[in-house]
Amino acid sequence: MPSVLTGLDLPVIAAPMAGGPGSPALVIAAARAGSLGFLAAGYKTPQALAEEIAAVTAAGVTCGVNLFAPNPVPADPAAFRRYAELLAPEAARYGLTLDGAAPVEDDDRWHDKLDVLRAHPVPIVSFTFGLPGRDDLALLRRTGALLAATVTSPAEAEAARQAGLDALVVQAAAAGGHSGTFTPARALAEVPAGELIASVRSAVDLPVIAAGGVATAVAVAVGTALLRSDEAGTSAVHRAALADPARTGTVLTRAFTGRPARGLRNEFTDRYSRLAPSGYPALHYLTSGIRKAAAAAGDPERVHLWAGTGFRQATAEPAAAILSRLAGQL
Ligand SMILES: Cc1cc2nc3c(=O)[nH]c(=O)nc-3n(C[C@H](O)[C@H](O)[C@H](O)COP(=O)(O)O)c2cc1C
Repeated sequence: MPSVLTGLDLPVIAAPMAGGPGSPALVIAAARAGSLGFLAAGYKTPQALAEEIAAVTAAGVTCGVNLFAPNPVPADPAAFRRYAELLAPEAARYGLTLDGAAPVEDDDRWHDKLDVLRAHPVPIVSFTFGLPGRDDLALLRRTGALLAATVTSPAEAEAARQAGLDALVVQAAAAGGHSGTFTPARALAEVPAGELIASVRSAVDLPVIAAGGVATAVAVAVGTALLRSDEAGTSAVHRAALADPARTGTVLTRAFTGRPARGLRNEFTDRYSRLAPSGYPALHYLTSGIRKAAAAAGDPERVHLWAGTGFRQATAEPAAAILSRLAGQL
């Protein structure tokens, strides 16, 4: 069994959270509390990733790194244009125009990030959105890292086993943020965490990290519970929304990025969840200006407020206190 996971004093891991919340400070706090934290490489420049790994190393601790596996969902150009037209009034609120003509597709600088991990090895690398190819897995393995795949079904778990992965992050649909599903154009099955983990474990005999619900696993990875922690890099508008008693719940939506992700309901998800086409990263780039302008204006109605179904349990206090309390409840 992989020791970086089983040797933890606190088997509650700080899950990777791209877009700000998963800061080096959060990862350092998790490690110092006897847990493990994941830096999220997604959206970051390779240089920023290298700096974050260096900051964690300089603090005398280690961390995992999470990568978006290249598994693009190219947007249908006509559906993309229609969605861009639909969003034009939202952009106009902030004096922006949307360049809906050409969907931007990229791979989040995958190969450059592999180079960073070669130069700055970490003990565990996890993937979301799919599985990397055989050569890239071999390259990462040579860095000495354990390799973990985020999976959302027994079939994805089996694919990960066949690809030679060491561990699984079994992510339930209740989890906050993007689903790791390998097939984002398909509706997500909302299977309760316990049931999902039991079905994965009966299909595939690999160590499991549970995410999005607590169940039989070597460790549990939490994201939402840490979003308001002192060390998280969560934006002010996101923190305030998580604490707002008027927020009634979360939804699975691809309205912001073209991939299914769970966040707090707001005007944007109410209006566009049914209308948004599949298309990642094209929709991510399309809506990015609106989301940044809205966040800067302190307007939570047009920001992606990623959160899992347990968002009421997100408390404002040191990450170590949150992780220790959750470990005590396992
Ligand atoms: C703000 C936010 C950003 C996230 N970013 C990533 C990411 O970059 N990579 C990833 O594998 N999972 C990401 N996730 C999912 C978490 O790693 C984890 O699976 C999830 O938070 C667990 O469920 P919980 O939110 O109910 O604790 C993100 C979650 C949140 C809330």
